[in-house]
Amino acid sequence: MDKSCLDTILDRRSILKFKDDDVSSDVLDKVLHAALRASGPGGTLKGGYRGSQPFSIIVVRDRARRAQLNELLCEGRRPCIEKAPVSLVFCVDTHRMNRWCALGGGAPHFKGIGVLWVALRGVYTAAQNAVLAAESLGLGSQYIQEIVWQPYTTLGFFQLPPQVLPVAMLIIGHPEERPQLAPSLPLEAIVHREVYSDPSDEELVEYFADKEKYFQDWLEGLPEDSKLKRHIESEGVTTLAQWVSQLTYTESFYKWRDDAVRTNLHLSELE
Ligand SMILES: Cc1cc2nc3c(=O)[nH]c(=O)nc-3n(C[C@H](O)[C@H](O)[C@H](O)COP(=O)(O)O)c2cc1C
Repeated sequence: MDKSCLDTILDRRSILKFKDDDVSSDVLDKVLHAALRASGPGGTLKGGYRGSQPFSIIVVRDRARRAQLNELLCEGRRPCIEKAPVSLVFCVDTHRMNRWCALGGGAPHFKGIGVLWVALRGVYTAAQNAVLAAESLGLGSQYIQEIVWQPYTTLGFFQLPPQVLPVAMLIIGHPEERPQLAPSLPLEAIVHREVYSDPSDEELVEYFADKEKYFQDWLEGLPEDSKLKRHIESEGVTTLAQWVSQLTYTESFYKWRDDAVRTNLHLSELE
């Protein structure tokens, strides 16, 4: 029996290992159609036109180009980009919107942070629709964040016109593994009833207990002689909070990314 939509959502997990099998064009089209049906900016009621959908999806099927993407974006650290038969790059695209407005006698004024902010709504919802459609079709997927950190690379690689900015990338293929489902925070950590309620320190720590255990199990499972384990120990990191803030999403990590985002906006002429 087919899984229900809800089961597909609740049981989904990111996939890092893919089989060599290709994804047929028919199946890929279904994923792409699902992306296009996502909620996004623009009214559905007045005029019923579902907005002007200011985003584009660049499909990369060519294996050599996927290998190049792995090199250019990740210095070869993510072979799954080459292995997965499909990469989808989701871009904010007000270029098409501006051209269309001009052709229709409208005002082609769609640029700036406010416009970007609004356009972004529809790009991430589209990407996640693609994730769920892929999952429901028996495929697996993984987001690749590096697409937003390499502005000079992506501009030339995809031959982007002004006002087209990649903001999300997905790799899709047939899963070779079914990793453990990673824990989410409990409802009460994220959901506030009527008004915001700040938890006590004890409650807050408890909310993260499952994630902490997941992290501790992972740490425990690292081989004693692994470089990563030695690095973690030498930095005195013993908790998930330390791992997240001191070793992964550090201040310098974000400083470098602040610069990349500014460069992106500048190069794409969206600012
Ligand atoms: C836009 C976006 C980009 C992401 N980029 C990466 C990435 O480059 N590497 C990574 O390991 N996880 C990335 N993630 C997170 C994972 O895709 C994944 O959703 C998260 O680790 C939770 O795991 P799960 O999907 O198995 O529940 C990204 C998520 C989003 C929404």
